[in-house]
Amino acid sequence: MIVLGIESSCDETSAAILSGNNILSNLISSQDFHADYGGVVPELSSRAHLQIIKPLVDKALKESNLNCADIDLITATAGPGLIGALLVGLTYAKGLAFSLNKPFIAVNHIEGHIFSGFLMEDKPEFPLLTLVVSGGHTLLLYVKSFMEIQQLGTTVDDATGEAFDKVSKMLSFGYPGGPKIQNASKIGDEDKIKFPVAVLKKPYNFSFSGLKTSVLRYIQKNFSNVNDIPEKEKNDIAASFQKAVVIALMQNTERALHNYDVKSISLVGGVAANAKLRNEITILSKKYGKKIIIPSLEFCGDNAAMIALRGKSLFESGRQDSLNAKPYPSLGENYFHTS
Ligand SMILES: Nc1ncnc2c1ncn2[C@@H]1O[C@H](COP(=O)(O)OP(=O)(O)OP(=O)(O)O)[C@@H](O)[C@H]1O
Ligand SMILES: [Mg+2]
Repeated sequence: MIVLGIESSCDETSAAILSGNNILSNLISSQDFHADYGGVVPELSSRAHLQIIKPLVDKALKESNLNCADIDLITATAGPGLIGALLVGLTYAKGLAFSLNKPFIAVNHIEGHIFSGFLMEDKPEFPLLTLVVSGGHTLLLYVKSFMEIQQLGTTVDDATGEAFDKVSKMLSFGYPGGPKIQNASKIGDEDKIKFPVAVLKKPYNFSFSGLKTSVLRYIQKNFSNVNDIPEKEKNDIAASFQKAVVIALMQNTERALHNYDVKSISLVGGVAANAKLRNEITILSKKYGKKIIIPSLEFCGDNAAMIALRGKSLFESGRQDSLNAKPYPSLGENYFHTS
């Protein structure tokens, strides 16, 4: 089965072609110009998606040596994300499905991330403990099958990626913050400052706003303004912050490993690109004798291959969506498409 995937929920336009389990093409066009504004500007994002979507799908087909008529299933992200950005990819996909008279699946972007480990050659095994760490979400999930996702915990305030981006801004490293904090951390002392790790009533929930505020307070207390922070100090703050984030994520993951009998662990989402986090969760998985699957970097951030894969699993379970499918900005009632 040939599946076309389209992703346009935020600042990446992506088109992918799957043939069965093989990824024939996964093209990602990143809107780097948002860095000039310190974050994603929704209207500019929609316009950029509009310009690139058709050439990108055409290129993905060409790279796969296929043409439109060869596609068996069309899938696109319907939410969560920026409404104008979603509208571009979703409308393009629905138009294509209508004109080619092919089945269509509207995919939940987070479900795309959740199952992105299945894009790897070595696949996760159910039941699976999945940690989703992205720009907008932080979720700990017990995943029994492609159709059974149980949420154990979520963030009560900032998402992990959001915290990375905000602390990066405080240190004037720029956007997106994750890779910049990671680079600074490599040469910083992660034990220099003991930033707090939140303890919450609900055992698997996360909170990063207190940590973010304590980074801000530390900067305000010790420096008159951000331009006065020596590079060495910035690197130490970045590394100490990154360490506190990883401890918070690993604490809840380890707690879940005590209480849920899983075969494997999967770390997914944009922040899964973080080298320290990848390393620590690998150590944890070895400690508990679990298989660990972390997508390669191309499949951690937003990509259409994960959308195609999730769309395919839903289609195979018997689902087919109408061309009236609408975009949705947050997880809300579409949380999650399980049966
Ligand atoms: N090496 C890294 N270390 C930490 N964070 C990183 C790294 N690389 C990317 N990130 C973070 O990942 C986030 C982007 O991830 P992703 O594209 O999955 O988020 P999103 O699609 O905007 O949000 P969501 O998937 O929740 O809708 C950004 O916040 C970015 O800073
Ligand atoms: Mg994402």
